[in-house]
Amino acid sequence: MPLLLAIESSCDETAAAVIDSNLQVHSNVVASQTELHQRFGGVVPEIASRAHLERILPVIDEALTEADTTLADLVAIAVASEPGLVGSLLVGLTAAKTLAMLLDIPLITINHIEAHIYACRMAAGRDIFPATGFVVSGGHSNLYNCKTPLDFELLGATIDDAAGEAFDKVAQLLGLPYPGGPAIQQLAAAGDPRAFAFPRPLLKEERLDFSFSGLKTAVLYTVNGIPGSHKTVPELTAQRKADIAASFQEAAIDMLVGKCEQALKKTGHTTLCVGGGVAANEPFRKRLSQMTNAGNCELLLAPLEYCTDNAAMAALAWEAYAIQKFAPLDCDVTPGLVRLPK
Ligand code: KG4
Ligand code: ZN
Repeated sequence: MPLLLAIESSCDETAAAVIDSNLQVHSNVVASQTELHQRFGGVVPEIASRAHLERILPVIDEALTEADTTLADLVAIAVASEPGLVGSLLVGLTAAKTLAMLLDIPLITINHIEAHIYACRMAAGRDIFPATGFVVSGGHSNLYNCKTPLDFELLGATIDDAAGEAFDKVAQLLGLPYPGGPAIQQLAAAGDPRAFAFPRPLLKEERLDFSFSGLKTAVLYTVNGIPGSHKTVPELTAQRKADIAASFQEAAIDMLVGKCEQALKKTGHTTLCVGGGVAANEPFRKRLSQMTNAGNCELLLAPLEYCTDNAAMAALAWEAYAIQKFAPLDCDVTPGLVRLPK
């Protein structure tokens, strides 16, 4: 069975995977940089690129060893070249180009966001397109009309913070560790989701976009008080913290699930695929499942291990391989999301 090596370095995870043309994952190595960024409460781009440089070769070596294969067995090198942090993307792309040139095999560049959705295709074990796709991560909250694995039309996105970013910032406000999503989920389990009526911006509007900054500000004012107001702020007890976490999470989930429902109505699709780091959130998974059950739609969630950043989901490259869509060795990274919402 032909094998390809996939490399992922778009943000703060250095990852490599070996995948065969049947989409079987032979190895999936992820070196997380969480401990390096934790004290800053978010990813510091310069630290991320330097850490990628140190880790990329050992991570590739480990992926090959775990897959019990060698460079000589590979038929292609795949790499996420968009979107992401420019310095981080460059480390992965440079490693991929070097290997492709040395081994004289094709280089395939993929879109990291589209790969997040492809994780659902891998888990399904069959063709799932056309479908409505939703990538909800630290950097993006993007809804797509996924016509084929390689043809995605952006239907809507966040106009300010991404959903994961909102989880991370609210966690920071509550004194929880980075990354904030898992910490909020855990704390919210002990809180009352109806304790605070936080806003759900754009939820009632027809457009398929998101806005999380108003929700984040509402949490900020609840924790610290409204600037200029003389009203005393209640002490941030453990219960109040849990109630804020639960109410924030409920508002975020209402917005995310509500827009998925609207997107399904708009596209007429009966399949919804959801991937990205926030898709690891258990209450969110449950609510998505309730919504799709009620609407007689199929829900394909990325498996937990493929929600947060990894290189296995770059198996998407096999779709490009099948139609010989290869990248030239002088190609560049594309840090920004090129297809902006209409
Ligand atoms: O997909 P990902 O690993 O990286 C990006 O491409 O951005 O997503 C990371 C984001 C972080 O903001 C993190 O807080 C969030 O995913 N996240 C979660 C959970 N696990 C990770 N958010 C909510 N609940 C979770 N259980
Ligand atoms: Zn990601």
